[in-house]
Amino acid sequence: MAAVLDGKATAVKVKNSVASKVADYIAHGGRVPSLAVILAGENPASQVYVRNKKKDCEEVGIFSSVYVLPSDTSKKELLDLVSFLNSDPETDGILCQLPLPRREDENEVLEAILPDKDVDCFHPYSAGRLFQGNPLMLPCTPAGIIRLLDEYGIQIEGKRCCVVGRSNIVGKPAAMLLLSRSGTVTVCHSRTPDLASHTRSADILVCAVGKAGIITGDMVKPGAAVIDVGMNRGADGKLCGDCDFDSCSGVAEWITPVPGGVGPMTRAMLLENTLTAYRIHEGIV
Ligand code: GUN
Repeated sequence: MAAVLDGKATAVKVKNSVASKVADYIAHGGRVPSLAVILAGENPASQVYVRNKKKDCEEVGIFSSVYVLPSDTSKKELLDLVSFLNSDPETDGILCQLPLPRREDENEVLEAILPDKDVDCFHPYSAGRLFQGNPLMLPCTPAGIIRLLDEYGIQIEGKRCCVVGRSNIVGKPAAMLLLSRSGTVTVCHSRTPDLASHTRSADILVCAVGKAGIITGDMVKPGAAVIDVGMNRGADGKLCGDCDFDSCSGVAEWITPVPGGVGPMTRAMLLENTLTAYRIHEGIV
């Protein structure tokens, strides 16, 4: 039976570490780090995510401001807000919650965020720096995965890693981070023939597809670490990941639960990135 990689407990450790650094900077007369979150429209999931991000900031002493905008906000208004936040010396991080009501505006708005405030790491410049192995900040979900593996002493160097999913937000950057840690990485996707032949040879299997049950125990190498990034609603209405937990945990050595695995780590890494942005702005090396 696999041991569970406890993202909730590890996220608390990361948050405590961020909180103590923030408290230390403030105790020495520093400015309070701050995160600006843009929430356009009324997507209920986005509203929950943003509420949680605000709560996380409060818990660690980071100031957060949420800019709630109506669904019919124009691209120009969004760009004007980003421009204001870019030039605001009190704002360290800028996060534009996705999806935007007008999906076609997303690239332009994300590309308007200054890279040194890009705490989501979604800007092409940030992706490029990651690609070159010289990132300013790390994309939150992939960084959370690596932090979780490190926490449990799971070695990446020299291991076969299989990432299922090729999104810009998770799959591709997760592959880059595993590669930067000297894993041997295979990226699979919806057009990969015989997916199981790849997943079955992986020591570290990361699944970020968004399809419940796409990975079953027979697709897992005995002794592997299974990292489930999926966040789906099962037929019973309960949250579940991409991996069939019961069958996978019978084969793997390590597995992340959903909820309580990668999700809390993603949230914690946003706080680390905000602190990194603050350090950049304050010239703290
Ligand atoms: N929508 C869903 N997840 C995310 C995220 O991590 N960042 C942003 N900006 N939007 C999201």
